[in-house]
Amino acid sequence: MPVAAPGFEQLRSHAARLAGTSIAGLLKDEPGRVQAQALQVGPLYATFARQRWDAQAWAALLELGRGCDLGGAFRRLFDGDTVNPTEGRAALHTALRGDLSSSPVARQAFATAAAVQLRMRALIQALEASEVTDIVSVGIGGSDLGPRLVADALGGPRPGRFRVHFISNVDGAAAQRVLGSLDPERTAAIFISKTFGTQETLLNGAIVRDWLGGSGRIHAVSANPGRAAASFDIAAERVLPMWDWVGGRYSLWSAVGFPIALAIGMDRFEQLLAGAAQMDAHVLGAPLESNLAVRHGLAAVWNRNGLGLASQAVLAYDQRLALLPAYLQQLVMESLGKGVQCDGSAVVADTVPVWWGGAGTDVQHSFFQALHQGTGIVPLDFVGTVSSDAPYAENHQALLSNLLAQSEALANGQRSDDPHRSYAGGRPSTLILLDALTPEALGGLIAMYEHSVYAQSVLWGINAFDQFGVELGKQLANGLLPALKGETEAKDPVTRALLAEIAARG
Ligand code: F6P
Repeated sequence: MPVAAPGFEQLRSHAARLAGTSIAGLLKDEPGRVQAQALQVGPLYATFARQRWDAQAWAALLELGRGCDLGGAFRRLFDGDTVNPTEGRAALHTALRGDLSSSPVARQAFATAAAVQLRMRALIQALEASEVTDIVSVGIGGSDLGPRLVADALGGPRPGRFRVHFISNVDGAAAQRVLGSLDPERTAAIFISKTFGTQETLLNGAIVRDWLGGSGRIHAVSANPGRAAASFDIAAERVLPMWDWVGGRYSLWSAVGFPIALAIGMDRFEQLLAGAAQMDAHVLGAPLESNLAVRHGLAAVWNRNGLGLASQAVLAYDQRLALLPAYLQQLVMESLGKGVQCDGSAVVADTVPVWWGGAGTDVQHSFFQALHQGTGIVPLDFVGTVSSDAPYAENHQALLSNLLAQSEALANGQRSDDPHRSYAGGRPSTLILLDALTPEALGGLIAMYEHSVYAQSVLWGINAFDQFGVELGKQLANGLLPALKGETEAKDPVTRALLAEIAARG
């Protein structure tokens, strides 16, 4: 365990002081807590009243934020400073959706992104004028999860809209399943890869190109457009750029969101960007104490470093947000799964917990037992929508009542003389309500999570924008390809034995 710096030590002592105080006790002791711990930003309302901090602990958290100059850190992010020092890059995803900085580099990025949006609109119009009904998007990680989440959340059957399908996994079964139900004559494809060197995307791209019978209806999005065009012989006008200054997991706002725009229409894609920009303006302008993303980030640090909790669940009480946990796993864990600070020294506090989750109410009938009565406490983010598009009002009432009930039950528990029927409570949660699942609200929600992640990275002193941890496995996999073909021997004895088993059974 890392040696905690003084600010983090303070969190632990506040947590120890509060160990015997229930969440109901905190609410009783602090009149006005419900109002003070709620924030509203556009269509998002969030309550932190069920976090296990009191006013003193909250003040210590704010002090930690001030000590790290969180406000200045956000300014540097928006201005395009080198916030990704290990790769010498800016992280200007905010410039993809708004013009909130007067720095020349951010303004240039904003203008460049706006020009690409015009190209995207023109390409969509061309597809609309064709016979194409289905789009296959090929990409993985940040080139897949964001578009997949938003297209799934906001897509749905609408006359005139394209059906968008996603292939990511290198397992050929993924391509087989998607392509098996489609007609190549009425399908176009988008290959998305920042680097255009990703094994999965290159292999799946080749499958799709061959299935389509050529590259005539293939589009690409890449920060390496030349490589993209050359790899699959794609016409330059159908290759859209992205840039080094946008991280893959922060890129759905760029041309990486092309599948989203095809699934929901370009106008609604722009509403998604506008919703994110509204959140950006709040995060940049609001003081730390009333800043939604900062409060969310401080809650994460409190639960991890104050209470010492090693996992965090996100529960989407809206079927359309069922992919939110998978999306957040990459955003949060690829950004914050680091053991060294920006300067290479060891971190001074534990960093990211394990993020996981699912969609309510389904998960109530699977892992909620452990959340209520298991020995480990898991802090939770509940996300729900006030009004639903589905024409079944009674179901929506039931969904909302379950959302409210679970957060309450996990916080308050219930005593019983029968230990098997006792609920300890004390499970902290944040509850986020969207007025409705509009493009604006979803844009705001995702931007809030992005900024919360950045705030956490600043508090922990780590780089949220690199991901060297994924490289070693990729290198080994490449090295093992010849061993699988029997051309070389693996160095590792366990791998050697496994290769022998595969060869004997293959
Ligand atoms: O898994 C590592 C990673 O580099 C992610 O960060 C990235 O989103 C994904 O691979 C895909 O990379 P690319 O867009 O370059 O194909």
